[in-house]
Amino acid sequence: METLNRPDEWKIEQGLSGAKLPFLDQSGGETVLIAPHKWEGFVKDEAAIKSVGDPNKLFTRELDGWKGYVEWEKYPEKKAKAHKILTSQTFPPNPEYQMGPIPDTNPVLPGTHWKMWHHAVGGELTSIPDDSWAIVLREKHPDMLHLLQFPYNGEPPKRLVTSKAVTPNPLHFVRNHGGIPLIEKDKFSFVLDGLVANPKTYTLDDIMNESRFPRMEKLVTMQCSGTRRIEQISLYPGQGDEVPQAPWAEGAIGTAKYVGISLKKLIKDCGGLIDGAKHLEFYGADTYFKNDEVMNYLVSVPWSKVKANEVILAWEMNGEPLPKIHGYPLRVVVLGYIGARSVKWLYRIKALKDPSLAPVQRKEYLYFNQQVGKHNQRPTAGIQIQEMPVSSAIMSPWQKQVVIHNGKIRCKGWAYSGGGRWPERVELSADGGFSWYEVPVENLSEKHKWTWRTWEFDLPCDVEGWIEIVCRCWDNSLNTQPLSVRAAWNWGLHVTSSAHRISVYSINKSRALTKDRLAKFEHIGAPLAPLTWPEEFQTQSWEEYNAYFEKNGPRDVDD
Ligand code: MTE
Repeated sequence: METLNRPDEWKIEQGLSGAKLPFLDQSGGETVLIAPHKWEGFVKDEAAIKSVGDPNKLFTRELDGWKGYVEWEKYPEKKAKAHKILTSQTFPPNPEYQMGPIPDTNPVLPGTHWKMWHHAVGGELTSIPDDSWAIVLREKHPDMLHLLQFPYNGEPPKRLVTSKAVTPNPLHFVRNHGGIPLIEKDKFSFVLDGLVANPKTYTLDDIMNESRFPRMEKLVTMQCSGTRRIEQISLYPGQGDEVPQAPWAEGAIGTAKYVGISLKKLIKDCGGLIDGAKHLEFYGADTYFKNDEVMNYLVSVPWSKVKANEVILAWEMNGEPLPKIHGYPLRVVVLGYIGARSVKWLYRIKALKDPSLAPVQRKEYLYFNQQVGKHNQRPTAGIQIQEMPVSSAIMSPWQKQVVIHNGKIRCKGWAYSGGGRWPERVELSADGGFSWYEVPVENLSEKHKWTWRTWEFDLPCDVEGWIEIVCRCWDNSLNTQPLSVRAAWNWGLHVTSSAHRISVYSINKSRALTKDRLAKFEHIGAPLAPLTWPEEFQTQSWEEYNAYFEKNGPRDVDD
């Protein structure tokens, strides 16, 4: 039999295979189908690549004792050469992880593109993917969820995200845009230049000298603005390369005690800002690839933030030297801003008149209006994200989990607000957000200006069957969270700050019938899980059934 159907016709018609759906172009007279593009395989212009020169001579280690550090910002011609290599060949298309399934492996995603780009440029970059993975295995907890193997992006599993109010270093999430530079402490120094009166170079010993600079110690929550992105993706796909970088759940947040000095003191030591400088740009020694361009990791913060002593140069994290993966030997910690501004592997601070022009600052970490998407997006249409809004998340139970309880469901989670605001109240609802219970203050972890609060609560729930548990936080400015993801959805897939909703199947044992039924499952040894398996026994005897209708009349009446 001839058919025009594809074997997976039913599935794609039902939207269960969205990436394979053709577009319908109705903008002309006739509707035209546009099929998803098929990759035509690798193309490589060997001669063009060869003409660039020897990568081992071009893309060398910038400084002795700084393995994996290639300087790009000082050498535009070197950037141009790497660009030529990258544009003289093709790479496989961006993998589809939004309208197609995410692999069920750990590492979840391998980072094939980034590995290929590093190998294509070569030189010092060649061994970075392997070196970085070795550091992950050495420094991170074996239970970490490796969302992206390279550049490494990982978060702890839900049961460990809030198991402690201060996150142990091996469990702190990691967000990397490139490989991990391996910097020897004795060979380390960084420069503070640009629009300062007296540019200077500092070693670690210089800034650790307490007779010159007072120490600063702060408990700080670091949050990636991609946290909880998975909720946006599972409803509607967005920005094409955000998910392959990290399909974050609720674990891209962590809290640590950092020790260092206030950047303000260092600027004073350099004679202060000159010529109307208003921003401080930070340079990280890692290599980032974006749109066939290579660069170091650069962002900036306004002077007003530095002036308020809210920017730390930190060398210690929870009483230990910074782990290599978190920026050893020195990183920036910007209190209350998204993690993106807290540059790791710092090698330069430059005072500028305007915010950094680097792509990470200007063209990423943007918050768009809901109607902005692929075909009308311009970077100026997005708000550059600095302080994260108030947010919260439920760590237990999990989405789609079945909970057997005695009228109260034990819930755990975190709440956080950026910009130096803090959670004042956490509320939970078991009915989708109609009625709210307050988490008693004694069930919240300690209050601090720059940190989250973890919480636990036994949420009253009388209902049987599927319920929607919702969590929201009120911060000290009485800001709270939008009630649905849709209300605040962003093409850029950053800032999922809506109230956290999970569907849970409630089995309420405080009800006599349910209690007896559970006893019956146990008595006959029938499996309780999975939920969708049919019961292996009659749920009512015929005697009881007939007695009911004798007493209450038949199903249909004659008159
Ligand atoms: N600094 C450098 N040099 N390179 C990076 O990729 N990632 C930033 C920031 N600093 C990044 C960086 C982002 S997006 C975040 S969320 C935080 O580091 C994460 O810090 P962590 O990995 O120590 O948790």
